[in-house]
Amino acid sequence: MKNPRVGMFGLVFLFTCWMNAFTSDAKRTEHIPGIPPDVVASYIHSIIQADRTIYSSFIVNRLHENKILDANEAWEQTNSLLLPAQFLQKSGRLVAEHGTGIRFRLISLWPIYERNGPVTDFERKGLKAVENNPDQPYSGVIQSGKISFFQAIYADQAVTASCVNCHNTHPLSPKRNFKLNDVMGAIVITIPLPDK
Ligand code: HEC
Repeated sequence: MKNPRVGMFGLVFLFTCWMNAFTSDAKRTEHIPGIPPDVVASYIHSIIQADRTIYSSFIVNRLHENKILDANEAWEQTNSLLLPAQFLQKSGRLVAEHGTGIRFRLISLWPIYERNGPVTDFERKGLKAVENNPDQPYSGVIQSGKISFFQAIYADQAVTASCVNCHNTHPLSPKRNFKLNDVMGAIVITIPLPDK
């Protein structure tokens, strides 16, 4: 830079533009209306579903096919990979620890473990509804103490034979006649609603 004043002016100009970019962004977001909770739930569901698919196909299946490492329910004791269901439940617990109030888990009317069964009437109804109509999530507002939550229940289907085989042969499974594409359970997503 030949003239240091021009250089300085340039820097100040750039800095002002940079600051403006932030303040105008802040102003803009104030006018954006709230995103409806069913839309937020569908955003969260699409991410969970993508992670579930990527983990199952690109990690578990790939390492199995290449004879590198298998998934095993007793992954901690056997130095194996977590099952996809364990991956989902574990990430759900981690998200719950973050204190945002958002929760998700995998549930079923025929759970291998009772803790994965429905805990409310709403969840039981939702599981039945998505079993009959897997393309349509079941959702509504529930009350827990003084806090209202939006809850959405999305069908979890037997997309591969391994879902069916493992659940039909698991010693603790109460249902042993799952077929390919059956609804085996659901992903339930819970979002706290702001105070009115
Ligand atoms: C190798 C065995 C295995 C395979 C394969 C498997 N699961 Fe599971 N699944 C389990 C186990 C074990 C649990 C319980 C995990 C826990 O909560 O600790 C479980 C949990 C679930 C649950 C929650 C209810 C319950 O049974 O406890 C659903 C729903 C579910 N699996 C659906 C599926 C679907 C859909 C697939 C295929 C995409 C699949 N599973 C593949 C073993 C398996």
